[in-house]
Amino acid sequence: MRKNNLSLDIVISDTHIGHKTGLVHPDYLEDYKPNDIQLWLWNVFSGEFIPKIKSIIKDVKPDYIHGLAAGDMGDADFKKRSIQFWTKDPSAIKRNAKHLLFPLFDLCNSVHFIKGTRAHTGQNSHIDEEIAGQFSNTVKKDEFNNSWYRCVYELSGVLVDVQHVGKNRSKWAPENMLTALRQEILVDRTDNNRRIPDVVYRGHFHWFGDTSIHDKPYIVQVPSWQLPTDFIAEIDPTGRTPIVGGFVAVYQNSKVVDRFPLTYTYKEEKIWKPK
Ligand SMILES: [Fe+2]
Ligand SMILES: [Fe+2]
Repeated sequence: MRKNNLSLDIVISDTHIGHKTGLVHPDYLEDYKPNDIQLWLWNVFSGEFIPKIKSIIKDVKPDYIHGLAAGDMGDADFKKRSIQFWTKDPSAIKRNAKHLLFPLFDLCNSVHFIKGTRAHTGQNSHIDEEIAGQFSNTVKKDEFNNSWYRCVYELSGVLVDVQHVGKNRSKWAPENMLTALRQEILVDRTDNNRRIPDVVYRGHFHWFGDTSIHDKPYIVQVPSWQLPTDFIAEIDPTGRTPIVGGFVAVYQNSKVVDRFPLTYTYKEEKIWKPK
């Protein structure tokens, strides 16, 4: 860390590479042709999200850039619940992830990969583990493991607490869930005489929300890069407008001094009319 003690944290989660509604690099789909959803996600990710991050880096001029992949980067349907996949081959998923994520994580000094849900990433989340092993700037958990169930790191004096599973949103007041999580973490760390994190990132539930930047801990539910699946169509009665994206935070002198929620709304809906 150099002069201004300024660091940038670039956070993404739940790309679900393998699923037909997940993010994917369209040039590495084996012999499969990308669908409209994959093309929309790819255009937003490569044409808006990554350029926006590059412009934030240019403006903020951080001394250190950290990347965080908060789990479920790949998805091979280990519980065999769906046929909505372009591949369930771990090696094809791993290859695609390498090409998809490299332009983003190559901007970073270091990257942490968090293990996702075993229904998507397999026992011991081996898909996330193998994806993590492909990047030279991955912070390894130890000699044998590239990825983490849970990790706590400190950047510019800001303590960050990460694991994959967060809280699902409530119907009427999504923010209440984040406030509840904040309270539970606060009580747990205080009761056990542990350092209270400044920032908490959680993924898994595919929605974006955060508490006030002035809260300690500041809770961020990281959005996914996947549109609703066949399973969501079955269980969600709202037909909720999908929001995807990532999150960038700026830390300096033990404080979160700025935050950039980079979210993108999928509004494309074909309305059928009789001819
Ligand atoms: Fe997920
Ligand atoms: Fe998950």
